[in-house]
Amino acid sequence: MINIAIDGPAGAGKSTIARKVAEKLSFIYVDTGAMYRAMALYLHRKGIAADDTEAIARVCKEPRISIEYRDGEQVVLLDGENVNSFLRTQEVSDMASKSSAVPEVRKRLVELQQKLAAEQSVVMDGRDIGTVVLPDAQVKIYLTASVRVRAKRRFLELKEKGENPVLEKIEEEIAERDHRDMTREVAPLRQADDAVLVDSSDMTINEVTSHILNIIRDRTGSGRRPVPGL
Ligand code: DC
Repeated sequence: MINIAIDGPAGAGKSTIARKVAEKLSFIYVDTGAMYRAMALYLHRKGIAADDTEAIARVCKEPRISIEYRDGEQVVLLDGENVNSFLRTQEVSDMASKSSAVPEVRKRLVELQQKLAAEQSVVMDGRDIGTVVLPDAQVKIYLTASVRVRAKRRFLELKEKGENPVLEKIEEEIAERDHRDMTREVAPLRQADDAVLVDSSDMTINEVTSHILNIIRDRTGSGRRPVPGL
């Protein structure tokens, strides 16, 4: 089994890049953020307050969360229901950000992630994949971009959706979220000692993808073709 870990802050392009890299290698792409979001959806539906840590620690043991692949896309199942289309709302994002700091939530989801990676070759993205979930991953990437660039990307995304975003406000929110992710007590966002830093600020999606594929090629065997699809 070959495991590739991609960590980094929100908005660095992790999921886009990880999905492309997985496709090139014919590996499974595992989006761990979507698992935290599915748990958050369950808690939200139960009417739990995002700061009620005790209730979150208790209730998070209830739902069955699993993932499946349909047409190559990850589908997150919450007690058997496909919840993909409910995971990107503001309420779920807020709840995920708070509930993912609760150790009981992490314990359950990390176990699931480790099981997936033991069964098949994966490209897994998140915040703690290289440091906690897959410390023995053959390749670890820490993908980042400047706050300004990430804010601009988000700004354009929102504009395209017909919204009327304010760049400075987005920049502030991203900086705040970085701070929260990096300073939280449990599994803070941090570059693993053996991770390769990739700064995508001045790179296109295709450039980042081929750069990462090159790193994987270098790390998993020199000169040979050790990974299918490379
Ligand atoms: O990557 P994302 O925005 O979909 O992640 C949703 C939330 O889950 C976000 O607040 C960070 C958290 N998360 C985490 O704590 N650990 C991970 N491995 C992945 C996501």
